[in-house]
Amino acid sequence: MNAFDVSPSADGLWTDLRLASDASVQAAIVVAQGTVRWFGPRADLPATFASLPVHHGGDALVTPGLVDCHTHLVYGGQRANEFAMRLAGASYEEVARAGGGIVSSVRATREASEDELFASASHRLQSLLAEGVCAIEVKSGYGLALAHERKQLRVARRLAEAHCVTVRTTFLGAHALPPEYAGRNGDYIDLVCHEMLPALAAEGLVDAVDVFCERIAFSLEETERVFQAAKALGLPVKLHAEQLSDMGGAALAARYGALSCDHIEHLSQAGIDAMREAGTVAVLLPGAFYTLRDTMVPPIAALRAAGVPMAVSTDHNPGTSPVLSLLLMVNMACTLFRLTVPEAIAGVTVHAARALGLQKTHGAIAVGMPANFVLWDLKEAAELAYWFGQRPVRGVVRQGRVVL
Ligand code: NIG
Ligand code: FE
Repeated sequence: MNAFDVSPSADGLWTDLRLASDASVQAAIVVAQGTVRWFGPRADLPATFASLPVHHGGDALVTPGLVDCHTHLVYGGQRANEFAMRLAGASYEEVARAGGGIVSSVRATREASEDELFASASHRLQSLLAEGVCAIEVKSGYGLALAHERKQLRVARRLAEAHCVTVRTTFLGAHALPPEYAGRNGDYIDLVCHEMLPALAAEGLVDAVDVFCERIAFSLEETERVFQAAKALGLPVKLHAEQLSDMGGAALAARYGALSCDHIEHLSQAGIDAMREAGTVAVLLPGAFYTLRDTMVPPIAALRAAGVPMAVSTDHNPGTSPVLSLLLMVNMACTLFRLTVPEAIAGVTVHAARALGLQKTHGAIAVGMPANFVLWDLKEAAELAYWFGQRPVRGVVRQGRVVL
């Protein structure tokens, strides 16, 4: 039994709602066979729909279902010890170079069974779903060997099935150098490109390919080799780019038509220009910025001026962003990065969907799209950013079902 077997259909007329974009407008949504048939001001509702069974929204504010477009949700163990080390003065790079960091989660993930990983990730996913997330990206990258990367990606597929949520899987085999390849970067990239990626893609486990392009991870040349392998398989790419330094990764990713460049604290104007040309989404990750006590704010004003779409995500991971609230990221995107409230809301809906290539099915309430929307116990949209640490959800319709 999965979440759908126990959830009623959302078909019918949803009324007594107010638009997040303009809370003074009374809105209505018509859902038929799980798909949005009509959406607009209640006053404009065609008479043919007025006799449908009614779902009363109770004067809730309505937004599209949220999209968390960058997570590392599946992993073993946790790394509170590193948090303490950083509080005592160590940097993320120092922790990584001392054998902690990503590699310590790799050890714990390799030791965990698929069922154990599924159980812990399910638990985490439930927190996100309870806040109105309707689509989520899940990366591999804590296995760093074929069998263990497969295990992570299989868990991601099982999460989609069990929780009736859209999951996009991203293969991040080039996340860190596994200890058994120390000093042999080239050999490991060979393994990623010639064995891991083709095998996992053939098994239908890969929707996109990502690389951590950074001084402590992989170079521009190594990143390009992975992108070439992805391209040969017809898979879209994305990149952990310019988080700790300006490596020029964003411009490279844009040349490969990347869906998104993520983190981007050190992004240059040349990178921004390349992303605009390619239609690449800028994914902002304030949870990692906050946890690492970073001071380099991403170039928001320049991204805005260039018209590059900005998404906002949790980057949930055990090292740099152990957060399970996308609304808290909305708050932080506003307070730390100076996004406006409408920008931050677009960042967790329409632009986040685009960062996953899901813009036709998620991130908006629109005729012909699957019904994914959230009812909030709020008077105005600014409250979505304002009440941090709270969960003002009244109801969630996910994939045409009333799941909350
Ligand atoms: O997105 N930047 C690289 N990857 C993760 C961190 C992974 C970890 O520390 O375990 C991130 O922040
Ligand atoms: Fe990440």
